[in-house]
Amino acid sequence: MMFSLHPKIVIAGTAMDIINNIKDMQSYSEAIRKDGLKIGFVPTMGSLHGGHMALVEYIKKFCDCAVVSIFVNPTQFSPGEDFDNYPRNLDEDTDKLLRSGVNVLFAPQSADMYGNDYKTYVEVKGIQDHLCGKYRPGHFMGVATIVLKLINITKPHYAVFGEKDYQQLQIVKKMVEDLNIDVEILGHPIVREEGGLAVSSRNRYLNSEKKLQATSISKALFQVKHKFERGISSSAELCIIARDILKESGVNEIDYISIVDNKLLEEKEIASSGDIVAMAARVGGARLIDNIKL
Ligand code: PAJ
Repeated sequence: MMFSLHPKIVIAGTAMDIINNIKDMQSYSEAIRKDGLKIGFVPTMGSLHGGHMALVEYIKKFCDCAVVSIFVNPTQFSPGEDFDNYPRNLDEDTDKLLRSGVNVLFAPQSADMYGNDYKTYVEVKGIQDHLCGKYRPGHFMGVATIVLKLINITKPHYAVFGEKDYQQLQIVKKMVEDLNIDVEILGHPIVREEGGLAVSSRNRYLNSEKKLQATSISKALFQVKHKFERGISSSAELCIIARDILKESGVNEIDYISIVDNKLLEEKEIASSGDIVAMAARVGGARLIDNIKL
């Protein structure tokens, strides 16, 4: 922490290092580990909102040095997706992180993360093919690859991921287990807006009418859980209940509504406690995902 090769911003006694260079980040983390201190890591693509900041607050409980990365990872976007338009607000994000007491912001350049001769990708077979994997080919390969690279660069003891991206969390956990990566992966519950809509960077694409429509996604999930608790366990029946709620609100572009087991994310015909109800739908140009545990 006494080690500083890079810009440090300071406000009212709080300081945060901003590191752009990969080797600098590795040396920084190495120095922290040598001092016997714990590193906690929150990977993000920026445009930080309440969901991200809840992860930051959570990781602070586990570590002496909180590192947040901001990197809009090109390899997890398929052609035609919103990579170019993905919201980017580095100045605002930097300010939020500084004020929340983060120690390091790691914000690398794309050309440094993926050079012209870049060749290596990580796949978590099976889990990557379900749910969003069917609609975003290659997406989870891009996610697993960048998460492993970021872990190798920031060398954390703990890293936290939101349950909003439940499939991503399970893929990262499996990768860490299978590849014997020396980090503990933590999950954090979904942060929701007042009406229930899961907070997301993509909610910025929604006007107030579309936002209201989008709220039907969480409503449908809560209703499925309610019906399950009342004794309905047929997945087909539960998914129809959800689909009807979305349709009534004018949400017609539904990628999937599925009930899956909570580890390998395989479809269940009969739902049981602990299973995940997951859905993805397009509202006003935004592809929104959400899920709930039964
Ligand atoms: P991003 O979408 O920026 O999300 C960063 C982290 O914040 C993820 O772990 C995500 O699950 C979590 N998150 C987002 N919205 C949340 C909410 N409403 N409640 C709880 N957690 C929430 O996910 C990614 O970036 C990328 O795929 C990344 C892991 C950084 C790899 O590029």
